[in-house]
Amino acid sequence: MDALVADIHPPKGAEQFAADVIAGLSQPQKTLPSKYFYDTRGSDLFEQICELPEYYPTRTEMALLRDRASDVAARAGADVALVEFGSGASIKVHMLLDALDAPRAYVPVDISGDHLRAGAKSIAADYPGLAVLPVHADFTTQFALPPEVGDAVHLGFFPGSTIGNFTRDAARAFLADARRTLGDGGIFLVGVDVKKDQATLHAAYDDAAGVTAAFNMNLLVRINRELAADFDLDAFGHRAFFNDERGAVEMHLVSRKPQSVELLGQRFDFRADETIHTEDSHKYGTAEFADLAAAAGWRADEVWCDPDELFSLHLLRA
Ligand code: AVJ
Repeated sequence: MDALVADIHPPKGAEQFAADVIAGLSQPQKTLPSKYFYDTRGSDLFEQICELPEYYPTRTEMALLRDRASDVAARAGADVALVEFGSGASIKVHMLLDALDAPRAYVPVDISGDHLRAGAKSIAADYPGLAVLPVHADFTTQFALPPEVGDAVHLGFFPGSTIGNFTRDAARAFLADARRTLGDGGIFLVGVDVKKDQATLHAAYDDAAGVTAAFNMNLLVRINRELAADFDLDAFGHRAFFNDERGAVEMHLVSRKPQSVELLGQRFDFRADETIHTEDSHKYGTAEFADLAAAAGWRADEVWCDPDELFSLHLLRA
């Protein structure tokens, strides 16, 4: 397996992080890429977010998968190759693998070799007869499936509303790439967070215990540590709100006062209340997402929602 997980994309590491941070902080609306949330501490905080009473997506999607896995399996048929976009959602993958009729292979796809190895190893241990075929690739682009998959039906799986981190245009482009990757006869199961009232959305991204605030602030902790910056953590705060026009929850870090920060010999000035935009989490009405998928070459076969219409599972067919 290690041969398959060889570094096709060597980690660009600290230099890329520094370049992205400097570029983001140099824009009129300062930004930082949300992918940098997930260092060890950030991944741990994200797991805590998933358990929060206010953060409905994880538990709602789990319940939907539990209820609908057999419907997915019936529609997919026997002998499918399950292709997971990103790897590590292992409980969710278990629910699908347990329901599928003699799946031929599990193909986790991830840009992080570490995540890929860990995910592949754990599934291989739990499903001894299953071919586990990790692909080290950027799943946001078109990629080649391993030849061992052969002519099996390709069932793509992209849970967690991770698609919400893309803008609508980028989500359409991603869906079109996934359509090419999964091919004719391909099926794609996508978990998508649904548009809803502002109060519910706000609470989910600004919880009472302050875990999401810590998750957001951890980006500054990380920049201080890894790029020897001097962000004063007490002088920044967490802000989350639903931007109706963009159909997205935005997360920002807010400067509580006028201040300057020094980073790799460069100075960045902040006005009072100036923000760094750190994340977008796009939300979709069910018909809205089906239309977006249709524009990317997919037919919406089914959409399953919980009774409160908090979260949706879309089953798309090429
Ligand atoms: C992992 C991107 C789906 O947008 O809900 C949770 C990340 N950010 N709380 C989301 C997140 C703040 C999450 N995604």
